[in-house]
Amino acid sequence: MCGIVGYIGEKNCVDVLLDGLSSLEYRGYDSAGIAVFENGEVETVKSCGRLVNLRDKLKSDGAPISKCGIGHTRWATHGKPSDANAHPHSGSKVTIVHNGIIENYVDLKNSLQEKGVKFISDTDTEVAAKLIDYYYHNDPLAAIKSALSRIRGSFAFGILFSDIPDTIYAVRKDSPLIVAEGDGESFIASDIPAVLKYTRKYYLIEENEVAVLTKRGIRFCDFDGETIEKEMQTATWDISAAEKGGYRHFMLKEIYEQPKAIKDTVSPRIIDGKIVFDGIKDGEFKGISQIHIVACGTAMHAGMVGKYAIESLARIPVNVDIASEFRYRDPIFGKNDYLIIISQSGETADTLAALRLARSRGVKTIAVVNVVGSSIARGADHVIYTWAGPEIAVASTKAYSVQLSVMYMLAARIAFENNAIDNSKYTEFCSEILKLPEAVSQTLAQQENCQRLASIYQNAHSLFFIGRGMDYAVSMEGSLKLKEISYIHSEAYAAGELKHGTISLIVEGMPVIAVATQRQLVEKTVSNIKEVKARGANVLLACREGENGVGEADELIELPDMPDIFMPSLAVIPLQLFAYYMAVLRGCDVDKPRNLAKSVTVE
Ligand code: F6R
Repeated sequence: MCGIVGYIGEKNCVDVLLDGLSSLEYRGYDSAGIAVFENGEVETVKSCGRLVNLRDKLKSDGAPISKCGIGHTRWATHGKPSDANAHPHSGSKVTIVHNGIIENYVDLKNSLQEKGVKFISDTDTEVAAKLIDYYYHNDPLAAIKSALSRIRGSFAFGILFSDIPDTIYAVRKDSPLIVAEGDGESFIASDIPAVLKYTRKYYLIEENEVAVLTKRGIRFCDFDGETIEKEMQTATWDISAAEKGGYRHFMLKEIYEQPKAIKDTVSPRIIDGKIVFDGIKDGEFKGISQIHIVACGTAMHAGMVGKYAIESLARIPVNVDIASEFRYRDPIFGKNDYLIIISQSGETADTLAALRLARSRGVKTIAVVNVVGSSIARGADHVIYTWAGPEIAVASTKAYSVQLSVMYMLAARIAFENNAIDNSKYTEFCSEILKLPEAVSQTLAQQENCQRLASIYQNAHSLFFIGRGMDYAVSMEGSLKLKEISYIHSEAYAAGELKHGTISLIVEGMPVIAVATQRQLVEKTVSNIKEVKARGANVLLACREGENGVGEADELIELPDMPDIFMPSLAVIPLQLFAYYMAVLRGCDVDKPRNLAKSVTVE
């Protein structure tokens, strides 16, 4: 949801900002803009649409010469994508870029308008810029403090004061922001990939802290100017991890990175036939009476698989919730409940709010997160990192796979600690899960088949995905992938539920993708395949090689054999590839689907 960058150093600032913005474009691509100091004055250039439009504008009009400035790539929230609504926004002396939402911007705008302040955009950000400006009387910290005391909502701001050249101020609350330190240069950015080309050293900035970036370096202080000492972090991500590396799209690259991502997430945690999570003591999960899994989108689908895995292995009831629903429905918690939060970015606003709600009610929490040091990772009692590396494509693939792996491991560990499985079953589970990366590699061999299948179905207007149990959960994910990047309508249905209404939509030639990997449910799903076939559906079936009932399908995707619990990790691969090739064949922008952004830091 919007990306912000800032730079001060000896390099050409415009180039560095554009570079950073191109790494952050996954966060939104409705408009882009920069504001830089040129000869002591703030120069702002912005353009509606993708970053390339801003680049073209800078090329045709001439780029400012500067060593210090801020930049922004927008996912529109308040006001449609337009030049006027593009960031940066300014008051008379203040220019800002913003990621987040100012919830009370209407009230603030009214009160500023009553004082004669004029507005030229529909954004909440312009209100923040003009509010800081209103309070600015030569004391930047006092102005920021006064403005923030009136702002309700989430923000990461990069701020320039026109009469304090070559200085960037940065603050945040509930939106991500890092402050990075290079050799004689400093940066701010919404995410690490934006600075990885220049440095791996960065600081996390907290609420009520201000970062002040000047030629002399970075200083952290509170609003009264008292210096705050901070610990430097080092990014472990490699720059190549945030580049396409010869693949046509990040999504395809990330699909292919799944075996390694799973290996990196699983292998170090299997020690002597046991599952070891750093910082989580033996017996932590003993006596749990109920588990809540809360997440959004793809992460929630991983949670659905987690529910089946935990309930079947540990026999402990699990509720899976969409974070935006959970946070407002006054959930009921019991004394020995545990909350599992899943998030790739660790910044999803609703998920973070759900975590805070559970903590405020005294529930123990564990976060399954990909981005190290993110708000969700820091906000939970325990964190289990998924080691997928940076996921750049908006459509999540490898993050889902590593989330599944953690769900399986949690299921086994919870089961063991609650005596639902014995030592030998636990050890067997541990040796089986280590085989998962190889089985996923084998499944990737379905690539050409998926490409062929996509060429058959590319003109479909609507599709159904069906499955039972874990296969239903995977169907939900397959359907989401297809919708979000190829813009084809699809629905995932529990296979047994179709005949309670939806089967009326099955007409001659309607594509139905059936997933049947759960042994005791295959026959049942095959019956459902027969039902839709009898009504003219064209069925594509994903199942184990040589499975009974394959003859019922028009097209087949064969999967390697693993225990049922791990089959979602294999079944999802062809569904991801299918969605990918459908989107490519339909000429869609695979990595940046319309209206979406990678990290949803607004409600
Ligand atoms: C879909 C997708 C989204 C995210 C969701 C949660 O491909 O990526 O549905 O899964 O927005 O994001 P995180 O995991 O960052 O909390």
